[in-house]
Amino acid sequence: ESAEKGGYEHFMIKEIHEQPKAIKDTLSPRLGVNNEIELDNIKLSKEDLEKINKVVIVACGTAYHAGLVGRYAIEKFAKIPVETDVASEFRYRDPFVDDKTLFIAVSQSGETADTLAALREAKGKGARVLAVTNVVGSRISREADDVFYTWAGPEIAVASTKAYTTQLVAMYLIALNMGIKKGTISKEKYNEILEELKTYQQKVEKLVETKEQIQELANRQFNNQNVFYIGRGIDDHVGKEGSLKLKEISYIHSEAIAAGELKHGTIALIEQGTLVIALATQEHLFDKMLSNIKEVKARGAYVIAVAKEGNEEIEEAADAVIYIPNTLDELTPILSVIPLQLLAYYIAVTRGCDVDKPKNLAKSVTVE
Ligand code: G6P
Repeated sequence: ESAEKGGYEHFMIKEIHEQPKAIKDTLSPRLGVNNEIELDNIKLSKEDLEKINKVVIVACGTAYHAGLVGRYAIEKFAKIPVETDVASEFRYRDPFVDDKTLFIAVSQSGETADTLAALREAKGKGARVLAVTNVVGSRISREADDVFYTWAGPEIAVASTKAYTTQLVAMYLIALNMGIKKGTISKEKYNEILEELKTYQQKVEKLVETKEQIQELANRQFNNQNVFYIGRGIDDHVGKEGSLKLKEISYIHSEAIAAGELKHGTIALIEQGTLVIALATQEHLFDKMLSNIKEVKARGAYVIAVAKEGNEEIEEAADAVIYIPNTLDELTPILSVIPLQLLAYYIAVTRGCDVDKPKNLAKSVTVE
């Protein structure tokens, strides 16, 4: 096993380091010289897309969080209404799905029982089913009409890292492909986003190297009983993933909330020393995030902010800032999740937890 870890202490940290390559492997085979996206053999022609009036994304755990970003990307670039739901709940609301629905199941393993059951339900109602999965030949890949494979390579640690970032890449590629075919995104914007995505191998590499700063923060912040993640827009989706990572492997109770919801309850739990991770990467939401940071600071919170390089204003408001490389606001989740993965990892290590095999959790859940 230690040979498989390639010199790393745990699979999780090894897999965090594998993300630049996993992102490249998922992205580059799909991109032509003029940025045309080749979605493997997925049959989503212009005519097919014109028929689709709704997209439903269903998944569990980390894959669900990728699905939330998928909703944002598809609505923004392809202008189709999207619902994202957790697979275990999807069936209970007698979902409105028909032959005009594109159903996207996101699953690293391709074996999750709830996701498979949701897929069958949607298929039974006539939906076109696209699977986004990391495992070739998995059950979900076999039952779907089309498959987009994330090329993350085998993921061993229970807490998902490289599968998530490649799922995000998949979501962006699917959304951009739909958008350019439908004509709902301009060629300029499409190229701008893809050119930026191409820099992500290098940007993620650079980010992983900030691990010492994060390790230091973890050394000081490992003993909290509660940790809150706040953000707005796609930052909120990333907060949810960061919070899940922390609770999965460190056993610290944590919660992620849309920052605007703080005042409706959670702020009552903020007291002297409470750790709050504030994601503030979205320019158009920055002022509102700044007010949220001030609100929790006023109640004694210790705030670690995640922001884009060059943002100095945040330094006055937060106790510590983790910078991500400058990038397009639409794409930040692929970058901003990296420090949150590292923070969860180092906090869990400091607490002496079994990082790769957390108690009560399984890599793939094949029971409903
Ligand atoms: C389990 C794993 C998670 C994963 C979830 C969904 O809970 O521990 O890491 O996100 O299942 O798994 P899937 O294979 O469907 O993505």
